[in-house]
Amino acid sequence: MAKYIVEQSGPLRGEVQISGAKNAVLPLMAAALLSEEECVIRDVPDLRDVSLMREILSSLGSQIEEIDENVLSIHTRDILSTEADFELVNKMRASILVMGPLLARKGRAVIPMPGGCAIGARPIDLHLKGFEALGAQIVKNDEAGFVEAVAGPQGLIGETIYLDFPSVGATENIMMAAVLADGTTYIENAAEEPEIVDLANFLNKMGAKIKGAGTDTIKIEGVEGLGGAKHTVIPDRIEAATFMLAAAITRGAVHICNAVPDHLKPVIAKLRECGVRIEVGDDDLIVRGDLGPQYATDIKTLPYPGFPTDIQSPFMAYLTTVEGSSTVIETVFENRFMHVAQLGKMGAIIETAGNKANVRGNAKLRGCHVMATDLRAGAALVLAGLAAEGTTEISEIYHIERGYEKFIEKFNSLGAHITRVDD
Ligand code: EPZ
Repeated sequence: MAKYIVEQSGPLRGEVQISGAKNAVLPLMAAALLSEEECVIRDVPDLRDVSLMREILSSLGSQIEEIDENVLSIHTRDILSTEADFELVNKMRASILVMGPLLARKGRAVIPMPGGCAIGARPIDLHLKGFEALGAQIVKNDEAGFVEAVAGPQGLIGETIYLDFPSVGATENIMMAAVLADGTTYIENAAEEPEIVDLANFLNKMGAKIKGAGTDTIKIEGVEGLGGAKHTVIPDRIEAATFMLAAAITRGAVHICNAVPDHLKPVIAKLRECGVRIEVGDDDLIVRGDLGPQYATDIKTLPYPGFPTDIQSPFMAYLTTVEGSSTVIETVFENRFMHVAQLGKMGAIIETAGNKANVRGNAKLRGCHVMATDLRAGAALVLAGLAAEGTTEISEIYHIERGYEKFIEKFNSLGAHITRVDD
């Protein structure tokens, strides 16, 4: 298995270009199933998760071609199967996003029950509740480990759906199921993430009638059919925040290009509280961690526009290096402190009780062998490795490479010393 060797580096300095957002491009690709015409998506990041989604769509009948660098053409003239491949779905939870489009276009969708992962059980009850509200019948075959959704004889019927939790995936899946339903659907207590807005914009370009994306109530008026569309993926706010923290933890100065500062408000606010200076442009930010001492702050993750759960672990790595102690509370996932033990091996002092962590500052981090337990925890360990004395060896880096494009190339272009070696 490959691993990263991270030498103490920094201060990082220079300019980094942010790629298209992983958590936007995956639902956009699934949405292309809704039309028999060609869809073209630009700024598609070169990631393992994107390759997996390509495989799943192809297995369902899509013709997919990379027509230019980071530009995908997806053409699904007909859907040849309404059953997502077990192997592929088990490799990537986001595959469940094909359910809504399959149900909308073909009236049937079968997927293996996605398993949990390191950060939590990741149930899909809210997705299924939404499909049932639209008139679909849900059949769970626990023995064979799959779930089937079948639309009623008249197809899906618009309805008002209240989400017990503003789930990102459930909001996306229900929105895609509702675009071709008969009548109007309201999703209440909907997720408000920028990736939801990006998906709604793409669907509206295809001819859907969606209003309210980005608020807690989304209105979808069903239409007869959708055409093809061209769309550029929004920049990845989580990647941008990761590089903001790289500048802060190495006390460097980094220019983050192709970002949407509006999507980064909680991260900007919290880093400013720590004493980091951040200059905000229209589509870029300059992060100065080299202008003086930096202090503790408290973090509580919440659905957007709250502090993003995906930045909790990278931010925690940073908080081990500032003056004073910080409190980190994780409210979105039930098991997202797996990185704490790994940071502890490097010398960090972090006490956890349930979903609350107390992070002591001024840690003398020392490089050692650590393991990435999930995508963002892996990024946190890279950040800690940049600040730690000596060399940090990070294994299980496939987690990291599924979600960050050209990860070490971008870091090394800023002056980091990271190498990738195969065991
Ligand atoms: C999306 O996951 C992202 N993934 C996650 O990013 C992100 O952490 C998460 O949203 C929250 O922002 C993609 O977009 C591909 P949720 P998703 O449904 O949709 C519970 C990363 O690192 N829940 O909003 O799976 C669930 O258990 C990844 O890029 C139910 O209870 O997140 C969790 O506790 C990690 N029932 C909470 O809601 C359901 O039916 C948030 O989950 C669905 C979710």
